[in-house]
Amino acid sequence: MTGLFITFEGIDGAGKSTHLGALAHAFEAQGRRVTLTREPGGTPLAEKLRALVLNDAMDPLCEALLMFAARRDHLQQVIEPALTRGDVVLCDRFTDATFAYQGHGRGFDLAVLSTLEGWVQNTGQGVRQPDLTLWFDLPPTVAAARLAHARTPDRFESQSAAFFERVAAGYAARQQADPKRFARIAADQTPEQVAQSARRALVERAWLPPEA
Ligand code: TYD
Repeated sequence: MTGLFITFEGIDGAGKSTHLGALAHAFEAQGRRVTLTREPGGTPLAEKLRALVLNDAMDPLCEALLMFAARRDHLQQVIEPALTRGDVVLCDRFTDATFAYQGHGRGFDLAVLSTLEGWVQNTGQGVRQPDLTLWFDLPPTVAAARLAHARTPDRFESQSAAFFERVAAGYAARQQADPKRFARIAADQTPEQVAQSARRALVERAWLPPEA
């Protein structure tokens, strides 16, 4: 079986993580082996980098480099071996988040991010990209209201409304640049409706059967 690489994206509070588990079960019910993972993180080294980047003050270049350093280790140790085995890899955030947060959010140079993307995701046979990105699109004001009840915010969750407007615009720009790779999920619906929309994107590609 061919591996599948599916990433989950959206601003903080969009609710993407809720749907990872259900889709993992849906693939497992089809007899597929699933690797469920996240960024930044997914390996012992990358999880250490995650703790630094989410909690310690640093400049945007340092932040972008740590995101890509974590990604390199994650790709080599986890994602590429899983795809070679034929797994379905479900990854909570990937490079679109770096473009949205470090690029559009922090204002870091997008051309430099593209260069890093080309280096870090080079497998020797080309630049690894997700087969599909589920983009949970939620207006930043709605996301902020949801997060107001959440736990102590990290360095990103504590950013201003204007920051999240820029991040949301960053995701929209990434989708416009590569529309075939993206499925936009309107996240301003009930959790059941959002789950159905996410599943539909996979059914449309014949990766999951229609629900009985
Ligand atoms: P998140 O998926 O929101 O984790 P949790 O659900 O535990 O809060 O990811 C953590 C944060 O990292 C999130 O605010 C976005 C940020 N981030 C970036 O800024 N750049 C990146 O490249 C990635 C992968 C994440």
